[in-house]
Amino acid sequence: MANLGVLVLFASIGAVAAQNGSPAAAPTTHSSSQNSSSSYIISFPAPSPSSYPFSSKTHVPSLPSPYSSPTSSHDTSPHKATPAAAPSVPSSAPQPSPRGSTPSYIPPVVAPIASPPSTPTPTPSPSARPGLQVGYYERSCPQAEKIIMEAVRSATSKNPGIGAGIIRMHFHDCFVQGCDASVLLDPTPGNPQPEKLSPPNFPSLRGFEVIDIAKEALEKVCPGRVSCADIIAFAARDASFFLSRGRINFQMPGGRLDGRVSLSSEAFNFLPPPFFNLSQLIASFKAKNLDEDDLVVLSGAHSIGVSHCSSFTGPLAPNPPAMDPAFATKVLSKCPLSPNISSDPMVMQDIVTPDLLDNRYYTNVLKHNVLFASDAALSSSQQTSTKVLENAFMPNRWETKFAKAMVKMAAIELKTAANGEIRRTCRVIN
Ligand code: HEM
Ligand SMILES: *[C@@H]1O[C@H](CO)[C@@H](O)[C@H](O)[C@H]1NC(C)=O
Ligand SMILES: *[C@@H]1O[C@H](CO)[C@@H](O)[C@H](O)[C@H]1NC(C)=O
Ligand SMILES: *[C@@H]1O[C@H](CO)[C@@H](O)[C@H](O)[C@H]1NC(C)=O
Repeated sequence: MANLGVLVLFASIGAVAAQNGSPAAAPTTHSSSQNSSSSYIISFPAPSPSSYPFSSKTHVPSLPSPYSSPTSSHDTSPHKATPAAAPSVPSSAPQPSPRGSTPSYIPPVVAPIASPPSTPTPTPSPSARPGLQVGYYERSCPQAEKIIMEAVRSATSKNPGIGAGIIRMHFHDCFVQGCDASVLLDPTPGNPQPEKLSPPNFPSLRGFEVIDIAKEALEKVCPGRVSCADIIAFAARDASFFLSRGRINFQMPGGRLDGRVSLSSEAFNFLPPPFFNLSQLIASFKAKNLDEDDLVVLSGAHSIGVSHCSSFTGPLAPNPPAMDPAFATKVLSKCPLSPNISSDPMVMQDIVTPDLLDNRYYTNVLKHNVLFASDAALSSSQQTSTKVLENAFMPNRWETKFAKAMVKMAAIELKTAANGEIRRTCRVIN
């Protein structure tokens, strides 16, 4: 553990650095008194209905008012606190391999069920929250996990970004009304503003069609048995497996129920926006029973996928900028000065290995090669910067922790038989 001395040294540098150059609060505030018209991604004019992530037959909601004029410009002034040279990462991660050679999925060893239920149908206990269990569908729908995994494999091999979307979907589901697939519900005349349409989710959240494909296949084989909430959790596990080239490989317990409540305002209030500082991030995770370690570890998912320019430029650009100047120049050159719905390009979160779920995020944080103030904020305390260093440099540390944190997140605020159900279609309540 001679390395730890070095780690602590770096941690101190990081903490000091953050004091000099920490991202200031963005001009926008984020309080429950606001609603989605003061959004951070889509304070845009309504897009054409064809771009909606749901069927055009459903009620098309009205969207928030136009973007207010941006207050900040592309300020790429030098960031005093950028560490001069970050040590190079040990090349423990396997090189990205062609999709075809993705390791084949090894079905998780299913833990024996202590007292087997006499009926093949899962019977959620009527009062208590359902106990999550590894191998939950072993009897009621033995092919369930395999069917979901194949849907994720197929989609992700065509477009790894969909896998990123699914991992983000799991987070966005669990933070709002618990892990209950409330994020999947389409608008209806009775509920025109579900979570799906809230600024953090619309139009950026993706992967819905993969959940639909899995659900449809499951309904054919074992109708009414597998919850949409479980499909999201398994799919996020599988996406983590595929995008990490098999290095993140864990069992995900099942047994969640689907909720009937989905409100845009709750998504806006519970999902942390990209301009949050460290204490705000910690508070938003704590509200969901997740600690600082979970915050640091789960943020590592920002080693894959994309961000729309509107999530980190214009009014949302932190001032002083959270980015390393050279990185900022490169990234911002891809973005218009003030993005709008018709011009909002996407940039890779990790420009080095954009489709590989690995611990490179943490070296990116150390170099300030990250897009959001919320990413850079992880270096703003001694405690979290030490965690950043550990995840960056201790081999396998992050992968193991990520698996555990995903399972922990997957158990947030579960529905009971009293307020949950197993949906027939993931986009509508029964
Ligand atoms: C810590 C607070 C977090 C903040 C403020 C945050 C914010 C964001 C934002 C603004 C985007 C870009 C959306 C867009 O413009 O397209 C994004 C993307 C993403 N986030 Fe987070 N996030 C956080 C935590 C997490 C967690 C816990 C996970 C999962 C474990 C996650 C997974 C992802 C993924 C995979 C993407 C890329 C999505 C895609 O390519 O479709 N994030 N995040
Ligand atoms: C929030 O929504 C309500 C009604 O939905 C509206 O009256 C109010 O002006 C909105 N507040 C803000 C800050 O946009
Ligand atoms: C984070 O932002 C909140 C709200 O703007 C502020 O009260 C708090 O002092 C900030 N914390 C830090 C560490 O900057
Ligand atoms: C959106 O932004 C682009 C680039 O800045 C600009 O050319 C275009 O006119 C804007 N469109 C709308 C609808 O505001």
